[in-house]
Amino acid sequence: MRKTVIAGNWKMNMTPAETKAFITELAPMVAGLDKCDIVLCVPAIDIPAAVEAAKGTNIKIGAENVHFKESGAYTGEISAKMLVEAGVDYVVVGHSERRQYFGETDQTVNLRTLAAVNAGLTAIVCVGETLEQRNLGYTETLLKYQTKMALTGITKDQLKNIVVAYEPVWAIGTGVTATADQADEGNGFVRAAIAEVYGADVAETVTVQYGGSMNDGNAAELLSKVNVDGGLIGGASLKTDKFTAIVKAAN
Ligand code: 13P
Repeated sequence: MRKTVIAGNWKMNMTPAETKAFITELAPMVAGLDKCDIVLCVPAIDIPAAVEAAKGTNIKIGAENVHFKESGAYTGEISAKMLVEAGVDYVVVGHSERRQYFGETDQTVNLRTLAAVNAGLTAIVCVGETLEQRNLGYTETLLKYQTKMALTGITKDQLKNIVVAYEPVWAIGTGVTATADQADEGNGFVRAAIAEVYGADVAETVTVQYGGSMNDGNAAELLSKVNVDGGLIGGASLKTDKFTAIVKAAN
């Protein structure tokens, strides 16, 4: 059985005070909805407020990025050890916005994934094709390549601390959601890539999320697909009622 993970990715939204208010409001709304992991990946500055507000609830806190070195002259970066000590359980790695705007490559995504997992965090590794790549017919090739590159050096045993999120770039923040069949197919390509490296039995145990304009209206259909084991949610994770509805759809 695969674990379902519903994770919000707040991106560059919410202040520490807003974080505290949000989680205080959300906690009773999702209490007892324990058939999935509930995660909020928040800006680094919000982590202390989020961890504090989530204490004693079923909400886990994640970060949005992690550096690959343990320490050193890397101005502006945050290490896995710092995140662990702050009480973080999950971290998003290789989001397409980081690939697009901050020079993230398949190599650095791999290094960040290794650093996260070696420190005991669960990495939510993002992969996904642009519309141009899809139209050229590269979706399967690209998803398999990105998945294998990101997981290079990750052992079979460490896969239990890996979640892969298939996020088609054309569906992020656009309001255009992949159809449930497209999401299932993309997630299936990710799972097939994992199977090619680690074996089919192991691939069956790995949580593969869909992300890209998932919301309270489409979550149930997306989550009904065999290869869709949860969601990575941007915009709809900024509203307690919408996020709760998605968690309920997963329960
Ligand atoms: P939206 O849900 O806003 O499309 O964002 C998806 C995403 O990028 C989650 O990481």
